Amino acid sequence: MRGVLQAAPVYDAFVGTFGFAGVGRLRQRLVSHLTGEILEIGVGTGLNLRHYGPGARVTGIDPAPNLLRAAAPRARGYDLVLASAAALPFPDATFDMIVSPLVFCSIPTPLLIPALAELRRVLRPDGQLLLLEHTRTDRPWLDLSIDALAPLWLRLSGGCHLDRDTPALLACAGWHIARHERHAYGLYRLLVALPSVPIISHYAAEATPHAESNSERSVALSLPDPS
Ligand SMILES: C[S@@+](CC[C@H](N)C(=O)[O-])C[C@H]1O[C@@H](n2cnc3c(N)ncnc32)[C@H](O)[C@@H]1O
Repeated sequence: MRGVLQAAPVYDAFVGTFGFAGVGRLRQRLVSHLTGEILEIGVGTGLNLRHYGPGARVTGIDPAPNLLRAAAPRARGYDLVLASAAALPFPDATFDMIVSPLVFCSIPTPLLIPALAELRRVLRPDGQLLLLEHTRTDRPWLDLSIDALAPLWLRLSGGCHLDRDTPALLACAGWHIARHERHAYGLYRLLVALPSVPIISHYAAEATPHAESNSERSVALSLPDPS
């Protein structure tokens, strides 16, 4: 069955309304300060593109041709490429930053680990992966509802997993989560993931019980503090 969110106008109407639930503000914080070569995966209909500032050179990829066509009027001169995050047509170490706005919920399960390997390959070694994702929460009562709704929503939406635990997935794939913000009871996460553990923070992690905050201080994270 083709999911409702695979039709670009429905997708726009539905995902666009998340802007009213504060997601627009999170999108803004995620990317408005970025400069240099940026890869945005799962660009969809391009709802995130208007949030980039003037110094960003963005390449957006998505495997859905109809969504990519709908993104064209919002491209602002950026490159849009038909591709999956699991098979990227770019040389190694091409990008300064990779942005994933509401994408890891939708990548098919067998492609998750290959996609994270590809992101690591095309990201410069000192680059960062910035994510805005909807996930399981930190409230058991909310997770019960999410778990109940997830199978139906997976079919209706055409592939969106409400119950993904993206932070755990990143950690399993060897990414170092340097910042992890929870919003709306943890339903939305802002994450900064590094392709490898910074050496200083690694030793700090072993030496002190406050490993997480030490590791956050030892690299300049590309996510401004909340205003
Ligand atoms: C919920 S939408 C988010 C779209 C857009 N990023 C936004 O913020 O509005 C999820 C997107 O992930 C894309 N997607 C699904 N599988 C993917 C894959 N293997 N690689 C890259 N993107 C994928 C879908 O086509 C869709 O555009």
